[in-house]
Amino acid sequence: MVTSNAELIDKITGLKRERKAVILTHNYQLAEIQDIADFVGDSLGLSQSAARTGAEVIVFCGVHFMAETAAILCPDKTVLLPDLNAGCPMADMITADGLRRMKEEIPGASVVCYVNTTAEVKAESDICCTSANAVKVVESLANDDIIFVPDQYLGHYVQTKTAKRLHLWPGYCSTHVRIQPEDILELKKEYPRARVMVHPECRPEVIALADEVLSTGGMCTYAQRPEVTEMIVGTEIGIIHRLKKENPGKRFIPVSEQAICPNMKLITLEKVLWSLEAMAPEVRVAEDIRLKAKAAVDRMLEVT
Ligand code: 13P
Ligand code: SF4
Repeated sequence: MVTSNAELIDKITGLKRERKAVILTHNYQLAEIQDIADFVGDSLGLSQSAARTGAEVIVFCGVHFMAETAAILCPDKTVLLPDLNAGCPMADMITADGLRRMKEEIPGASVVCYVNTTAEVKAESDICCTSANAVKVVESLANDDIIFVPDQYLGHYVQTKTAKRLHLWPGYCSTHVRIQPEDILELKKEYPRARVMVHPECRPEVIALADEVLSTGGMCTYAQRPEVTEMIVGTEIGIIHRLKKENPGKRFIPVSEQAICPNMKLITLEKVLWSLEAMAPEVRVAEDIRLKAKAAVDRMLEVT
């Protein structure tokens, strides 16, 4: 017998209460996963929610590095990721060994790692950042030389906003590189009054066409401005659900229907339910790595 979404949601709600669990969901998740969440947000908001929650269990509906960041911040809580295959290809583009080699090549530089990294890479970094605070984090450092890993495009964008010298790792997001400047130019012709907002993981030629460069959380806040009624959206298309839900009557036009992060879509209602039933798969971080990684994440949260 096929179980309906309504039945799944009922079971999840009951079990969530029993387990004293909270559901944290990223803005790119499937609509039905956003709709069962206690909090929907960007990487920064999700880290802040994890750090604050009084719940005993965190069901993380996002990708692995996000659940791992929650585990770094909350060692006494059980952090569940309903599908362990939900990774982030960008986070896998750098290893702790690779970063150690780069640090040897540029001795004395401070190291900023994007939150889209493993705990081991965070443990090798001075401070972490997200797309919402990358410029602020870089500017907070006394050093003029900054190693910035792993997203070259976020790094490139930050470089346009700071006088510091950024040394970039050649990583990128395989979803955001699908967003093409030609598509934006076409849409601008079709919707001349629309504001263009793009994520800083996009390539520089895409960023050059934007009115606003924002994290996913920043996009949701921006969309609520009364004077903004039509938006061309340059990021993963999962965010369109939240934008429409929070802003009825406004128009949101995705730049590309191809901008889908397949990892984000691995989390389903069935897997959330199974995860709460089995209290697995759990994401844990070895204590020596966790403590070093936590120092980098805590510094970021202080700056923010
Ligand atoms: P945000 O922190 O802006 O939500 O971005 C996370 C991410 O993975 C973007 O691809
Ligand atoms: Fe990683 Fe890109 Fe997916 Fe974000 S959208 S989780 S950066 S692959």
